[in-house]
Amino acid sequence: MKMRMIMILFLLVIIGGFVHGDENESFRKQPTLVKTVKGTKMCVKDWECNKLSKFCCNLTITDYLDVDQFELLFTKRNSPVAHAVGFWDYGSFIRAAALYQPLGFGTTGGKKMQMKEIAAFFGHVGSKTSCGYGVATGGPLAYGLCYNKEMSPSQDYCDEYFKLTYPCTPGARYYGRGALPIYWNYNYGAIGEALKLNLLDHPEYIEQNATMAFQAAIWRWMNPMKKGQPSAHDAFVGNWKPTKNDTLSKRVPGFGTTMNILYGDGVCGQGDVDAMNNIVSHYLYYLDLMGVGREEAGPHEVLNCAEQKPFNPTAVAAS
Ligand SMILES: *[C@@H]1O[C@H](CO)[C@@H](O)[C@H](O)[C@H]1NC(C)=O
Ligand SMILES: *[C@@H]1O[C@H](CO)[C@@H](O)[C@H](O)[C@H]1NC(C)=O
Ligand SMILES: *[C@@H]1O[C@H](CO)[C@@H](O)[C@H](O)[C@H]1NC(C)=O
Ligand SMILES: *[C@@H]1O[C@H](CO)[C@@H](O)[C@H](O)[C@H]1NC(C)=O
Repeated sequence: MKMRMIMILFLLVIIGGFVHGDENESFRKQPTLVKTVKGTKMCVKDWECNKLSKFCCNLTITDYLDVDQFELLFTKRNSPVAHAVGFWDYGSFIRAAALYQPLGFGTTGGKKMQMKEIAAFFGHVGSKTSCGYGVATGGPLAYGLCYNKEMSPSQDYCDEYFKLTYPCTPGARYYGRGALPIYWNYNYGAIGEALKLNLLDHPEYIEQNATMAFQAAIWRWMNPMKKGQPSAHDAFVGNWKPTKNDTLSKRVPGFGTTMNILYGDGVCGQGDVDAMNNIVSHYLYYLDLMGVGREEAGPHEVLNCAEQKPFNPTAVAAS
């Protein structure tokens, strides 16, 4: 009981620091804890990377992406034309990322790979949530995180085929919401299950809570769409080893394959189409702004998926 009191007080101190916007202080309170487990160096870095993991020994996201950089990447998200003013912020991204940093999100490889992965993830997020248009002030790419939901849904996205596994809750509407927009009852159901959030009854959580919205998007990035296929994370950081069939289908580790995984033939294998180029442009833009530089993105066949065969042809693309 006493122990619990102390724990709660300790937590309040940390949260208190955060709420008061004292960000640089509160993002690193405790010194890194280092242990060697079976010859592997494992670490815990306070709450940001708080499970004993080899990934927590490297830099964490707050070490190479601070709040000012986040503001720079999504500089127009609170402008008058935006549709989610005040919703998205740095703190909610870092809190959501904390669940996945011990698993390698933004913590795999050296600093350059780590920054590239965050730029890649944001490339998808920015292009899916942008309200930028051709002549927009600051350029169309400055408008990422402008939406947090579909504005005029034409339907409720309830698929009765899944009525036994993910039955639609009367009154709930499963239109697009989030940082990598989630559509349909079965996607809300599956992501809710994974995150232990009751999204089937409360899909609106995703448009009310930016931490949950980022969590759902990072979960999508970190997990395969289907068993036997790589996650976008694994395809991007090079954990995934293509099979012969993949190679024949022009699927190679890199950004192009992340689009193949997330959107299939909605974007890939169509040649040089706008839907694909728009996502690539956001990725390159973020690479530049983060100081990595677009020249680090690699050659065309790694960067795009114009010639790739989709993993899941005309399937349920994008979650
Ligand atoms: C923390 O941020 C404040 C204001 O943003 C700045 O003046 C101070 O130097 C920072 N401290 C550290 C340790 O970065
Ligand atoms: C940590 O970073 C180093 C390079 O700085 C890299 O070689 C190593 O693979 C990284 N560890 C993990 C677990 O990714
Ligand atoms: C938002 O979601 C996070 C993660 O589930 C939770 O910890 C937090 O309390 C929520 N915030 C609000 C205001 O409900
Ligand atoms: C190889 O790819 C094709 C289409 O891309 C697919 O139909 C086939 O099942 C795949 N074969 C294996 C062994 O995965």
